[in-house]
Amino acid sequence: MSEVIAEIRKVSKIYKNGDTETIALAPSTLSFKTHELTIILGPSGSGKTTLLSLLGCVIYPSEGQVVINGEDVTNVSQKKLASIRLNNIGFVFQGFNLIEPLTALENVMSPLILKGISGKKASEMSKKALTQVEMEDRKNHLPKMLSGGQKQRVAIARALVTDPPILLCDEPTASIDSKNAHKIMLELKELSLLGKAVLIVTHDTRLCKYADRIIYLSEGKTSETPFKENEYEL
Ligand SMILES: Nc1ncnc2c1ncn2[C@@H]1O[C@H](COP(=O)(O)OP(=O)(O)OP(=O)(O)O)[C@@H](O)[C@H]1O
Ligand SMILES: [Mg+2]
Repeated sequence: MSEVIAEIRKVSKIYKNGDTETIALAPSTLSFKTHELTIILGPSGSGKTTLLSLLGCVIYPSEGQVVINGEDVTNVSQKKLASIRLNNIGFVFQGFNLIEPLTALENVMSPLILKGISGKKASEMSKKALTQVEMEDRKNHLPKMLSGGQKQRVAIARALVTDPPILLCDEPTASIDSKNAHKIMLELKELSLLGKAVLIVTHDTRLCKYADRIIYLSEGKTSETPFKENEYEL
């Protein structure tokens, strides 16, 4: 059964720099469900990362309410926001977001250590997450020894090791060839079928075939097309 896990209600984000104001997100109301893979498409500067950062409890809205897993996070303290983020959100960013001096396994363990889980337990859980993305045989590799696609799969393992209900991905297939991009998209699709709300920001319209839902962003304004069946080959 799918349920609403993240919502923005009349949310806007305005950046002020001296006299200039940038409306990164115009007032928008959207809700996201578990078991759903949403693609957010839009040109550079249209507000995609801003929308993801609002849902990911990284920034506060200028107006409106952000509700994550039933909790209104709009007016909570930085500390509380960080704890909501740790318990509900997994982030996958564009390439190169692994910590370079740490091995693949240590990278995946890092959010668990932040949560106060013991090293032994964190290591066990992280090995399982690496197995899920078929990277267990590379667990002792440093990021620099991994290909772009492999790094991204380690990043997915790190995002899902805490078992968050929401997975936010910013350009997860950028600078990755189409075969590896397909593999990553199938892994993300699988996670949505298992019950996570998966949101993917991209410029790449080829990813639309994996989506249950597509949201377009243009100059900070959101719009949506009706549901389309998945067309990819398993
Ligand atoms: N911290 C900030 N301060 C001021 N302006 C910002 C800030 N962050 C983003 N912006 C502006 O808000 C708008 C939306 O930016 P955002 O990063 O959300 O776009 P994007 O769709 O993710 O673009 P890209 O595809 O290039 O990553 C842009 O005009 C950008 O310059
Ligand atoms: Mg961006």
